[in-house]
Amino acid sequence: MTSVPQKTIKAAITAVGGFVPDDILTNFDLEKMVDTSDEWIMSRTGIKERRILKDPSKGTSFLAIEAARDVLSKTDTAPEEIDMLILATITPDMKVAATAAKVATDIGAINAFAFDLQAACSGFLYSMSLAAAKIESGHCNKVLVVGADKMSSIVDYSDRTTCIIFGDGAGAVLMEVSSNSYGWEDDFFRSSGVGQDYLHVKAGGSLFPTSSYTLAKGWESIYQDGKTVFKYAVSEMAAATQKVLERNKLDPEMVDYVIAHQANKRILDATQTRANLNKKKFLTNIEHYGNTTAATLPLLMRDFENQFKIGDKLLFTAFGGGFTWGSALYTWAY
Ligand SMILES: CC(C)(COP(=O)(O)OP(=O)(O)OC[C@H]1O[C@@H](n2cnc3c(N)ncnc32)[C@H](O)[C@@H]1OP(=O)(O)O)[C@@H](O)C(=O)NCCC(=O)NCCS
Repeated sequence: MTSVPQKTIKAAITAVGGFVPDDILTNFDLEKMVDTSDEWIMSRTGIKERRILKDPSKGTSFLAIEAARDVLSKTDTAPEEIDMLILATITPDMKVAATAAKVATDIGAINAFAFDLQAACSGFLYSMSLAAAKIESGHCNKVLVVGADKMSSIVDYSDRTTCIIFGDGAGAVLMEVSSNSYGWEDDFFRSSGVGQDYLHVKAGGSLFPTSSYTLAKGWESIYQDGKTVFKYAVSEMAAATQKVLERNKLDPEMVDYVIAHQANKRILDATQTRANLNKKKFLTNIEHYGNTTAATLPLLMRDFENQFKIGDKLLFTAFGGGFTWGSALYTWAY
C-alpha cells in the first residue's frame, strides 16, 4: 500500500483497559539473583521494576481476561455484542487451542470469533490494524483487541541479559465504528525473517520440539542479541514513523503523542532523535512495567488516557521479534 486510504467508515478506540499482577520484581531483587545492579539496569534500559504473575496455575489468559473485563466495565457494550476478539501474544496458555477463544468464552463474548496473533512486540499494533480494517469494511461493528503476555514463563532468571527487561501484563481496547470523523487514519507495516537469529525462543515449535536436549540447551527461554535488536528497532521504528507522517503530510510537530513500544528507554530516545520527534511527546511507563511485549501499547494508553483530548494526533510505533514492525496514525475520538 503506497497511498493513504480513503475511508467512508472509520474505526475508533472507544475504551481502554489493562491489568498488571500485584507482585513486583525490582532491580534490587534482580541484584540478588544475577550479577547486575540497579544502576546498570536503569542506565541501559530505564527499567526500575516489573510485574510478575507468580501463581503457576495462571497463564496469559488470566491477564487477558482481567484486561478485557476492565475495558468492558468502562463501556455500555455487552460482551455478546463483540464480533471479533484478537489476542496478541507470544505466550499463549497452550501451543494448540487459541487462548483468545478461552478469553472470549470467559468474558461472555459468545458471538465473537477469536484468534491469537503472534507478531511479538508488534502484535498489538498489527491487531489494531486488522480490527480497524474489519470495522471499516463493514464486517464487524465491535472488536476487542487484547495484548497480553506472561513473559516470566519464557524468561530464564539466571540470564542477566534478558531477565532485566521483561515483565508480565495485559492491556485491551474496544474498537468500533467511529461516531465522528476521528479514529484509525493510516498504517505502515513490514517484517523481515532476518530477525529469527537475533530474537527468539528456539525450541517448542515444529523445528525443535521440546526434548531433553532442548531443555538442557536452554532453548525454551527467550534469547536476544541485544545490540542487533537495538539497532534494527531504532532504524525501523524511526523509518516507519517517518513514512506514515510523510504520507499524511504531517510535520513531526503536528503529532500530539507518540505511543511507542516500551522496549527500552534508550531505544525510545534513539528513535525519537532519529525520527526528529519531540521527546516530550513520547509517553513512557517502562520504568514500572519493563517490556511486557504485546501489552506495552495498551498499557501506555491506559496510563495516559486522561491526557488525551478529542482530535489529538497519536503516532503509534512498534518493533518486535520476527522481526516485525510498523507505525500507525490515529486521531483520538473521545
Ligand atoms: C540488552 C541491552 C540492555 C544490553 O546493553 P548493551 O549496552 O548492548 O550491553 P552489552 O550487551 O554490550 O554488554 C555490555 C556488558 O554488560 C554486560 N551485561 C549484560 N547484561 C548485564 C546486566 N544485566 N548487568 C550487568 N552487566 C550486564 C555484558 O555481559 C557485557 O559485559 P562484557 O563487556 O564483559 O562482555 C541492550 O543491548 C538492549 O537494550 N537491547 C535491546 C533489547 C530489547 O529491547 N529487546 C526487546 C526488543 S522488542
